[in-house]
Amino acid sequence: MKFGFVGTNFVSEFMLEASNLVDGFELAAVCSRSLENAKAFAKKHNVEYYTDDYKDFLNQDIDAVYLAVPNVLHKDIAIFFLENKIPVFCEKPMASNVDEVKAMIAASRANDTLLAEAIVPVYTQAFKVIKDNLERIGNVRRAVISMGQYSSRYDAYRKGTILNAFKPELSNGSIMDIGIYPLSLAMGLFGKPKSVFANAYLLSSKVDGLGTMILNYSDKEVIIMHSKIVDQLLLSEIQGEDGTIQFDHASIPKKVVLIPRNGEPEVLFEDDQNSLMYYELTAFMDAFKKGLVEVPEVTHQMILDVHTVLTEARRQTGVIFPADL
Ligand SMILES: NC(=O)c1ccc[n+]([C@@H]2O[C@H](COP(=O)([O-])OP(=O)(O)OC[C@H]3O[C@@H](n4cnc5c(N)ncnc54)[C@H](OP(=O)(O)O)[C@@H]3O)[C@@H](O)[C@H]2O)c1
Repeated sequence: MKFGFVGTNFVSEFMLEASNLVDGFELAAVCSRSLENAKAFAKKHNVEYYTDDYKDFLNQDIDAVYLAVPNVLHKDIAIFFLENKIPVFCEKPMASNVDEVKAMIAASRANDTLLAEAIVPVYTQAFKVIKDNLERIGNVRRAVISMGQYSSRYDAYRKGTILNAFKPELSNGSIMDIGIYPLSLAMGLFGKPKSVFANAYLLSSKVDGLGTMILNYSDKEVIIMHSKIVDQLLLSEIQGEDGTIQFDHASIPKKVVLIPRNGEPEVLFEDDQNSLMYYELTAFMDAFKKGLVEVPEVTHQMILDVHTVLTEARRQTGVIFPADL
């Protein structure tokens, strides 16, 4: 399957590492805003075709596009390819807000062309193991699923330079970059909540540095914490009446442990896969081979539900992007 990559940052490199583990993957075209960057990336990965205009991909023999550029650009580029019947594997978050997500899904459906969100944790084996073992801990009453990662770009922010990761005009910030991982994982397990209550600490650039969401369900509450300005060392935990499931990471979950009430911990799963993007890439390629418009593991409805909550949480916390206006 021949891919065109739009964006040449480290996340594109991560995806290529994962692709080494997948049969039938070929990087066939590269696009960067700068022809120099595109050329360097293409040369590094032995790709003949490179360009500084993604529209040029239409002249190439490619089966799908992987989109790894700032969030604010996802919608227009994705819709361009979908309208030309080229499947799109779009980095998370799918778009700036839920209205954009709706437009992208509509374009996918109208053109009968695959569209998926590359949101690592919900494609993983660890996620499947958690889901399959939930009934063992009885009625789930609470989950605390969180991720906090001091951004490599926050040092610059503290010295007065605002890099992309903290720019509202690119639809970035903590809930978009980090919060979507625990939120998607929680909603993949428990579905759409009845309501959400959100809080956040806003930086002077007007994106959130960290925040919390409480998802209300009729029988449980799910607390989501996210941060780009402090590290989090806590495990995530799902608390049931008969036991607890703990896992190590909300974006790259690798180890899952079940602790029965009054019992001994049982390690349910430890992943030895180095690149967890392997799972999402495999799922996308399988869906392509089957001629689907969505990936069964992460349906369009689930993406829409997650982005409905994300957009509502931003509304409550005053994180407004130019793309929202
Ligand atoms: N799955 C994961 O683990 C993971 C991790 C990090 C990020 N992400 C997601 O991947 C996407 C890219 O994130 P990132 O941190 O790599 O973003 P980024 O550094 O801001 O931008 C990524 C690439 O997009 C291009 N770009 C940057 N600013 C641009 C602008 N103003 N206009 C047009 N193109 C621009 C650049 O590529 P060129 O210079 O080649 O044009 C840049 O290398 C985001 O959606 C992010 O949420 C996913």
